[in-house]
Amino acid sequence: MQNNYSKVVLITGASSGIGKATAYTLMEKGFKVYGTSRKIASETTVKAKKGNGFLKMIPLDVCSQESIDNCIKYILKEESSIDILINNAGFGIAGSVEDTSFEEAFKQFDTNFFGVLRMCRAVLPKMREQKNGLIINISSVAGLISIPYQSMYSASKYALEAMTEALRIEVKQFGIKVSMVEPGDTKTGFTAKREYTHNSLNSVYSDKFKKSIKTMERDEQNAPSPKLVVNAILKIINSDNPPIRITAGFSYKILVFLKRLLPSRFVEYVVSKIYS
Ligand SMILES: NC(=O)c1ccc[n+]([C@@H]2O[C@H](COP(=O)([O-])OP(=O)(O)OC[C@H]3O[C@@H](n4cnc5c(N)ncnc54)[C@H](OP(=O)(O)O)[C@@H]3O)[C@@H](O)[C@H]2O)c1
Repeated sequence: MQNNYSKVVLITGASSGIGKATAYTLMEKGFKVYGTSRKIASETTVKAKKGNGFLKMIPLDVCSQESIDNCIKYILKEESSIDILINNAGFGIAGSVEDTSFEEAFKQFDTNFFGVLRMCRAVLPKMREQKNGLIINISSVAGLISIPYQSMYSASKYALEAMTEALRIEVKQFGIKVSMVEPGDTKTGFTAKREYTHNSLNSVYSDKFKKSIKTMERDEQNAPSPKLVVNAILKIINSDNPPIRITAGFSYKILVFLKRLLPSRFVEYVVSKIYS
């Protein structure tokens, strides 16, 4: 792979939160960053304060194959490679399992899981041709520990964890590396954009649901900035042999470690004390 400082990076969901913080950090380090948003009609470019790095924002909806095809075509017209793909776009739908319609469940998976699948399938042919590449999927601690009233969000991230582990083995033979970052609560636009299932505020689960949501929102709004997650992404980019996953933040690392050691019933007790 060429020197880090001239690498081409594609980050989905770079208009806000973790994606935006990552895009600006990489641009300042000299990367050619293509960030995406559904909300822009045409590209806009910001240049790094020093050096040749830039951030070009281009339109993309990871739920639309046509939008993905246009995005990849655009980048490959501008650049000769796509070196790093960061699958960051995502959102959350909250509500009890019983209150979740199939359409709501699918909508959650369409962005958080199928969106990543579509993006990987779109860049892999180019990465195989280059004989190198790096894919970083932004998962979540909720992809390792399931959270009540966020079951579809957790399920979409558990599915992402499973796909990422398999993909990593499959594409190693082509010189392509795959890794995940698992953020815990992070202060971003995620909280304000969380959707609720259609009858979550008017169902037999509503009282517990509301308490649970209040806890989640308070924790997210009091959480650290995306810096911890950006640092984990940088660690992966700078590694010759990136790990399968990095859980961002010391307390979450401990939590994930304890989940593997402690009996499942104990973990369930703790999670239900926090959220239910
Ligand atoms: N914040 C947390 O506590 C937390 C914890 C664990 C994991 N995460 C994960 O971190 C990632 C980033 O989230 P964030 O916290 O930074 O949230 P955010 O501030 O709401 O940013 C989400 C980004 O995703 C983009 N997006 C959403 N749906 C999209 C779609 N269909 N196609 C393309 N882009 C789409 C949004 O862009 P536009 O709306 O401009 O298109 C936005 O830039 C997500 O995968 C999330 O699951 C977050």
